[in-house]
Amino acid sequence: TISSLLHTPLSDEKASETVTITGWVRSVRRMKNVSFAHVSDGSTIHPLQAVLTKEQSENLSMGASVKITGEWKESVRGKGQQSRELLAEKVEVFGEADPLTYPLQKKYQTPEFLRTLLHLRSRIPANTNLLHLRSGLISTLTAFFAENSFIQCHTPVITSSDCEGGGEVFTITRPKDFFKTPKYLTVSGQLHLETLVAAVPRVWALGPTFRADKSDTARHLSEFYMLEVEIAFIDTLDPLIALIEDMVKTLIRSISTSRLGRETLSAAGGGDKAKELEERWRGLLERSWSRITYTEAISRLGSAVEQGDVQFVSPPVWGAALQAEHERFLAQTVFNGPVFVTDYPKGLKPFYMLPSVSTPPAPEGGETVACFDLLVPTVGELVGGSLREHRYDELLAEMRRQGITVRDEDEEAESLRWYLELRKWGSVKHGGFGLGFDRLVCYLAGVENIREAVAFPRWYGRCDC
Ligand code: 4AD
Ligand code: MG
Repeated sequence: TISSLLHTPLSDEKASETVTITGWVRSVRRMKNVSFAHVSDGSTIHPLQAVLTKEQSENLSMGASVKITGEWKESVRGKGQQSRELLAEKVEVFGEADPLTYPLQKKYQTPEFLRTLLHLRSRIPANTNLLHLRSGLISTLTAFFAENSFIQCHTPVITSSDCEGGGEVFTITRPKDFFKTPKYLTVSGQLHLETLVAAVPRVWALGPTFRADKSDTARHLSEFYMLEVEIAFIDTLDPLIALIEDMVKTLIRSISTSRLGRETLSAAGGGDKAKELEERWRGLLERSWSRITYTEAISRLGSAVEQGDVQFVSPPVWGAALQAEHERFLAQTVFNGPVFVTDYPKGLKPFYMLPSVSTPPAPEGGETVACFDLLVPTVGELVGGSLREHRYDELLAEMRRQGITVRDEDEEAESLRWYLELRKWGSVKHGGFGLGFDRLVCYLAGVENIREAVAFPRWYGRCDC
């Protein structure tokens, strides 16, 4: 691969080897007697420079696929990115590309325009890097979980329930009557993961989740990857919070000491952008992350408003959801880094959460649940997690209160009887979380819009390729 040529220090004897590379032409510069082609094979964001005769470069243009054999040698001019170049002996063009119609051009093209070219966009160095980054993060996560005695599980994509109760499900109704009643694309694998954690006490999953959420923002997708964890035999949020911090720090350590990290920094835009990103990684590693309760967060936000430090569109009031503007202010201004906000009001959260363990002071006896959101600068909410209600009677009461079907005598599709039954035989205290994997990619790569963090983004109104 090109990366093994470019990134492996070559000994002198190796330097004059004959090598063959295959890839796509990024650019061609034609001089009077000689041409220079930058060729990429996707193994690195850096292209290799091939030196060709005029004839050899005849059918070469940006976008074409090629096979070039030649001598890998000291670059004559010694300038530019690489000290070596490929002196072409044999050039074979597999697929020509008409430079007049090839949509990817060397000039600046806006993210919006490139989103209309999803079938070609991954050839752009920054996008190629994101493919490598996602894959590298998943490898590290796999090793991290194995080392910590977790097993990886698969949860279904087609489900009969709306885990979050948010009503943001995509419904499957065809072919007609296939499943007798409508089914849904999963919004979260949590409920299924909870059945598995009653068999194996440490489980994790990474899979696609779907939300028919009309939020047209830089952090919402209709199809996104969620990393989910469930742990049995825990009775506080501490182990979950510690695991997340350790996990993200492990990911950062692994990228920041590797070629993947160096390429991610240069893909971030070089110069100031790269420095900023490196600073972000360092900051995340150096500190232990902050933690406050929802109730404290509301009073911090309230006093910031009172002191005239900030103005919000929605005033922060106890009992109301934290808005994106509140989350941003907490993570960016108050804590200038990640912060776990714990113990939200019960009324804001789904049916499955356990009441707060050590009841933190809430105004007028407001009830809170044992949960947390991890907020980070720029991205906002990165993780949501909680302890789960493990007691049969309490869970049943809450499900009834929220109008969730628990019996399926009438063959109601969305019955959660199975979920309730878990609490009947050998129930244990347990908890878990879900992390938005694409949001994590944005945060670690310094990508501003989640529509760039996945190769094939789907969001409200758009599913093009
Ligand atoms: O906070 P959420 O909705 O939590 C759950 O679904 C739990 N059942 C997870 C669990 O405990 N196992 O989603 C978890 C995370 C969010 O914090 C956010 O990072 C991400 O998933 N997320 C989205 N990412 C991209 N686009 C969307 N529309 C997202 N909605 C949530
Ligand atoms: Mg959430």
